[in-house]
Amino acid sequence: MYRTFGTLLLAATCLTNAGARPIRRWPSYTNLVEEIKTAMQASIRTSWEQGTAAGAIIEVDNPEYSVFAHKPFEYDGIMPISVLQFAMSAAVRQTADGRLSQNINDAEDGAALDGASAGSAVLLGSFTHTDNESFWADSAERELNFILNDVPRTSTGAFSHRIDTRQYWADGVYMGPPFLAYYGAVTKNQTLLQLAYDNCRLYRDALLIDGPTGPLWAHIYDDDNKTWVDEGIWGTGNAWASAGMIRVAATIEKSCFRSEMKHQTSSLVAWVKEILDGEFAALTSDNLVPDYLTGGPTFSDCSSSAAFSSVAYRGAKLWPHVFGLNYIAVADRIRQAVVSGVTDLGLLSPVVDPLNWGQIGILSTEAQAFGLMMLSAWKDLLGYEPVL
Ligand SMILES: *[C@@H]1O[C@H](CO)[C@@H](O)[C@H](O)[C@H]1NC(C)=O
Ligand SMILES: *[C@@H]1O[C@H](CO)[C@@H](O)[C@H](O)[C@H]1NC(C)=O
Ligand SMILES: *[C@@H]1O[C@H](CO)[C@@H](O)[C@H](O)[C@H]1NC(C)=O
Repeated sequence: MYRTFGTLLLAATCLTNAGARPIRRWPSYTNLVEEIKTAMQASIRTSWEQGTAAGAIIEVDNPEYSVFAHKPFEYDGIMPISVLQFAMSAAVRQTADGRLSQNINDAEDGAALDGASAGSAVLLGSFTHTDNESFWADSAERELNFILNDVPRTSTGAFSHRIDTRQYWADGVYMGPPFLAYYGAVTKNQTLLQLAYDNCRLYRDALLIDGPTGPLWAHIYDDDNKTWVDEGIWGTGNAWASAGMIRVAATIEKSCFRSEMKHQTSSLVAWVKEILDGEFAALTSDNLVPDYLTGGPTFSDCSSSAAFSSVAYRGAKLWPHVFGLNYIAVADRIRQAVVSGVTDLGLLSPVVDPLNWGQIGILSTEAQAFGLMMLSAWKDLLGYEPVL
């Protein structure tokens, strides 16, 4: 009798839930962050993913050294161990030409700037891990010299995103300029901060096009044959561009050249806003942005969405006169949509496949990183650990 009743109840429960996605309830903010983080750490990574993951780890584990912190370029007595673990792998896999994280498979990935995405984490070692100061400083300097001396320049003088042909990729704005700016801030070298700014400006000049919701960035332009490789307005391309520019702006703002470079900061902030305005106006009914606005599929993408949410939170904290409450409101809606899609293995879902930009993927390392950036930026804006 009892057993029969139990079986019936179980059957009824199964029927009710058939086909429905269970709503996952995270016990706490920390628990959610931990699951997204361990999924990222477990992921096989290419050079840009290593650097992007290291950047997310800084924000989550040692926010006092993120460029969004109060005094990020000073040692405060705490060694950022998990960040340096990522940086160590990038440095150990640095190729002879200076590219960080490059020595995987045949090391022939043709990216010129991707390796630099881990550069800030490596340079962080030079002042937070003083026993090995020269190891970190040398590694970072070799990456810098590769960019300055070996990366081909486009016709306007920007660093090409590719090594064998001169191309602008929106992605490059996250990979190269934040490292140049960070190097400039840490070593008090204004030339490098200016170079970071100039590259953001030149990439925007090359890639900005009119979209259905205002100006946004197309993905890839080849400067050798003056043709578009991908003229689509890709969500993740715009995510890289806005996330890269807000880091450069914050780095200038926290550097000792802050007052001399107010004009550069305000331009960067305006260009970040331009991207958020275009992307937020394209929000789908799921409160996510589409993979492509034009020139590709329009499925809802948690990867770029999480990045935009993080950028809006960072903007609201640092430049509240530009990014007011309406930006926070959209960032909140996106965050709720992204968190509700996180799977039982801690994966953001659905996400664009980082290797095939026109299809949905199962696991994206950069999406995991963007999710962590979103959650840490939210916490930083609130000033306390959020309740989910
Ligand atoms: C780090 O510093 C220690 C102590 O000076 C030294 O033994 C070790 O070889 C250094 N490691 C690297 C990677 O430079
Ligand atoms: C700034 O960095 C550049 C590039 O490494 C270098 O050529 C220049 O001498 C540096 N300037 C100062 C003032 O250190
Ligand atoms: C331009 O160059 C790129 C890179 O070599 C190539 O992929 C593309 O097909 C070329 N486009 C045209 C129209 O030749």
